[in-house]
Amino acid sequence: MIPAQVIEAKRDGHAIDPGTLRAFLDGYLDGRVEEHQMSAFLMAVVFQGLDPRELDDLVDIMIGSGASLDLSDLDRPRVDKHSTGGVGDKVSLALAPLAAELGLYVPMMSGRGLGHTGGTLDKLEAIPGFRTDLDLAAFRRVLESVGCAMIGQTAEIAPLDRRLYALRSVTGTVPSIPLISASIMSKKLAEGLSGLVLDVKAGSGAFLPDEARALDLARTMVGIGEARGVPTEALVTAMDRPLGRTVGNALETVEALACLAGGGPPELRALVVEEAVAMLRVAGQGASDDARRRRARAALDDGSALARMERLVEAQGGDPRVVASPDRLPRAPVVRHVRAQRGGVVDAVAPRPLGEAVVAMGGGRRRLDDVVDLRVGYRSLAAPGDVVEPGDSVGEVHAADEAGAAVGEAALRAALVVGEGGAPHRPLVSHRVTASGVEAFRTG
Ligand code: URA
Repeated sequence: MIPAQVIEAKRDGHAIDPGTLRAFLDGYLDGRVEEHQMSAFLMAVVFQGLDPRELDDLVDIMIGSGASLDLSDLDRPRVDKHSTGGVGDKVSLALAPLAAELGLYVPMMSGRGLGHTGGTLDKLEAIPGFRTDLDLAAFRRVLESVGCAMIGQTAEIAPLDRRLYALRSVTGTVPSIPLISASIMSKKLAEGLSGLVLDVKAGSGAFLPDEARALDLARTMVGIGEARGVPTEALVTAMDRPLGRTVGNALETVEALACLAGGGPPELRALVVEEAVAMLRVAGQGASDDARRRRARAALDDGSALARMERLVEAQGGDPRVVASPDRLPRAPVVRHVRAQRGGVVDAVAPRPLGEAVVAMGGGRRRLDDVVDLRVGYRSLAAPGDVVEPGDSVGEVHAADEAGAAVGEAALRAALVVGEGGAPHRPLVSHRVTASGVEAFRTG
């Protein structure tokens, strides 16, 4: 295997045979293929894609680069969900304890904020003491005692993905259907799951904004899971606006806790419920979607999902008192209300500028080793369809200082469109993608 020839072959649109692909990737892990060569190869994949056989090979090589969990001795289905990344997406924080309360094991390995999108690990770490770096033995203990456990990708799981992902995030090579699919599915399939739900975002705040590409991504990932014997389904969900009314780590954690307590924004609750329904479905649990929905809503309304969250926080070293008193979470010292300059109906709240502003305010990373200010972000954001009068607050900016608040205010003003109403926006869940194909989503 001569690295330059592999790069040239992919650049010119040829398929790479299995032995050569393996040698090239192994060579990257042991230093014979250099970072700049892998960067060039990844960019060639962004333009030329991978055929189904190459993608299968890539997934298997990525899974095989590390350990896989064996959770087959657990007595209930093991189901995880993964989102392709969005702004204000705090679903996992509410969903994991909810699904555990509904009788599933949820071994959840999540990521940190990436680009303009937030990450579950950062949101969890807003809870004082909460540890997301458990080793696999401790992860398993928490999973068995609480029913869910939430950690970061450990060094043992898919190390090839860790290296490739870090490189992709700084070389403009994230938005590629085969690369995203292999990255996500290699990590998930190493978790020893008996079912998987994928939340594939579509809209301007998603990595792949275009609906047709989001559907393609969903189909590709579902195919990878099903081919390896893991029942997998994807929901294509709206990311043309932030999810819920908060963006930023600690503020999103507060909103997720409100959802677990039976409240929170209706869109957040609806998505958490639909994803819980999908998790029960892939696990073969429940008589019908209506019955699954009823159970999920009841667990949010009767306090049992919230109590499960309290157990999780305690088991992972966090301060369990935050669950009942979210005001114990860290708060930013500067809070600025942004006021509508004209009245009307909110036609759009663009998610990407808000996600980028949170990063600029210190709430995300520009480099992998940046320390994140978990307090900053937005609260009480306006949403499409809201009616506003001139002078009404359309959102609070939470910032470390006045300079940060100014950045946050400018971004919210740029993101917000107040008009006559009636601007189109995406349905919260537009499609369901399963092994049998794509169907328009109908909620109950
Ligand atoms: N999340 C991942 O884990 N990998 C990607 O490539 C994109 C989003």
